[in-house]
Amino acid sequence: MLNAVGLQNPGVEKVISEELPNLAKIFHKPVMANVSGFSVEDYAETCARLDKCAQVGWLEVNISCPNVHGGGMSFGTDPQMAAAVTKAVKAVTTKPVIMKLSPNVTDIVSIARACEDAGADGLSLINTLMGMRIDLRTRRPVIANTTGGLSGPAIFPVALRMVYQVARAVDIPVVGMGGVSSAADVLEMLMAGAVAVEVGAANLTDPFACKKIIEALPAEMAKYGISALSEL
Ligand SMILES: Cc1cc2nc3c(=O)[nH]c(=O)nc-3n(C[C@H](O)[C@H](O)[C@H](O)COP(=O)(O)O)c2cc1C
Repeated sequence: MLNAVGLQNPGVEKVISEELPNLAKIFHKPVMANVSGFSVEDYAETCARLDKCAQVGWLEVNISCPNVHGGGMSFGTDPQMAAAVTKAVKAVTTKPVIMKLSPNVTDIVSIARACEDAGADGLSLINTLMGMRIDLRTRRPVIANTTGGLSGPAIFPVALRMVYQVARAVDIPVVGMGGVSSAADVLEMLMAGAVAVEVGAANLTDPFACKKIIEALPAEMAKYGISALSEL
């Protein structure tokens, strides 16, 4: 999937006043809040507000966003900027903070280490890879934004490689994602070093994707002689 939906959301105030209460009616466990920002202050302010929500179990900080005050480069492409966001967020919350890394970098390990050194409680990866397609009839980019974020099974090998590299380089937990769409993919991610897995694009083609993956896990584990996920 190639998308350029941007960071569509109603804003943190509405998330707190409407989305979280609506979610609490049907989902009775802690939720992860995924936070984006266009400045270090944005991140800190949003996390400070979410810190007060008991329903939010932990924060996942998306550093693939452009730094509008720093030339528009993504926070996640520079170790110093990634560390600055991590420090600012950690200073305003007692909830666990997972820094979500961008794969659009030459050396993902240096960004991962910078976040760990700045106090991150965990890391998650990967966000979407930058991609582009051209419509041959119109000779124009298919995406109005010209480029978009690539996700889904096509990016799984890249995601797995990066999870493997990062998990070996840091001592904090790593959450793996990028193209996961089956129980076998989950096992591969865990073998690469992830302690948990997230599923994105697969939910858009099948809203029951996560349910099916979870239900298929025991048989898939049995197939490979895995008695407990913790052994991976
Ligand atoms: C439509 C769409 C919207 C997304 N929005 C966000 C977002 O708001 N914050 C974020 O951190 N990642 C966002 N992502 C990235 C996904 O969370 C995930 O990191 C990426 O798509 C790779 O995983 P997947 O192949 O399972 O989708 C989005 C992805 C898609 C396809």
